[in-house]
Amino acid sequence: MSKKIVCLFGSPRPKGNSTVIAKRFNETAQKLGAEVQTFSLNKLQYRGCQACMTCKTKLDKCVLKDDLAEVLEAVKDSDILVIATPIYYGEVSSQVKAFIDRTFSYFVPDFGTNPYRSRLKPGKKMVFIQTQGHPEEKRFEDVFERYAFFFDWHGFGYNQVIRACEVMNVGDADTREDLMKLAEEAAKKVV
Ligand SMILES: Cc1cc2nc3c(=O)[nH]c(=O)nc-3n(C[C@H](O)[C@H](O)[C@H](O)COP(=O)(O)O)c2cc1C
Repeated sequence: MSKKIVCLFGSPRPKGNSTVIAKRFNETAQKLGAEVQTFSLNKLQYRGCQACMTCKTKLDKCVLKDDLAEVLEAVKDSDILVIATPIYYGEVSSQVKAFIDRTFSYFVPDFGTNPYRSRLKPGKKMVFIQTQGHPEEKRFEDVFERYAFFFDWHGFGYNQVIRACEVMNVGDADTREDLMKLAEEAAKKVV
């Protein structure tokens, strides 16, 4: 069966660096037989987690009926999640952060003690694409690691991280063959 990929474009720039790298990943994955569904988060209307706890007390999903509901369902059904994000103030974009906070709805009510913490099936893979203007690789290297801790609880046991440093303007990543190669290699590893 072909692998289902859900790819989230977390940059507001449709031709931005993270999107260009993610697109190369997707194209390679498609050539290898994967199905790819993409969402441009910036075009969607949604709120962050409201901490209402309805997903722990009354429902097995998020109660909010906004544009992110479809994204959360798609991720639930997928085998591979791709998150492409620019670094803003040393963090993922706010569009991505709001998505991540809403994945709180995937946790089962007793996720603190239950060995099966998540409503997602285990064995998923994740690809995290991070672009930054800063040239030093050491800078912001902890961003994925911090989120991976939580995504591991949701069953994402295998990860590929693609980082692009010193890419500031639209078009910077397009000319970087090294980055395109990383995207292609990551696709070959995960699909
Ligand atoms: C609001 C804002 C905050 C930014 N903060 C950082 C930062 O903290 N560190 C950094 O290296 N680059 C920072 N940048 C630069 C972006 O990370 C860089 O341009 C990146 O390639 C953008 O990705 P994109 O082309 O996919 O949108 C910032 C850019 C913006 C617009």
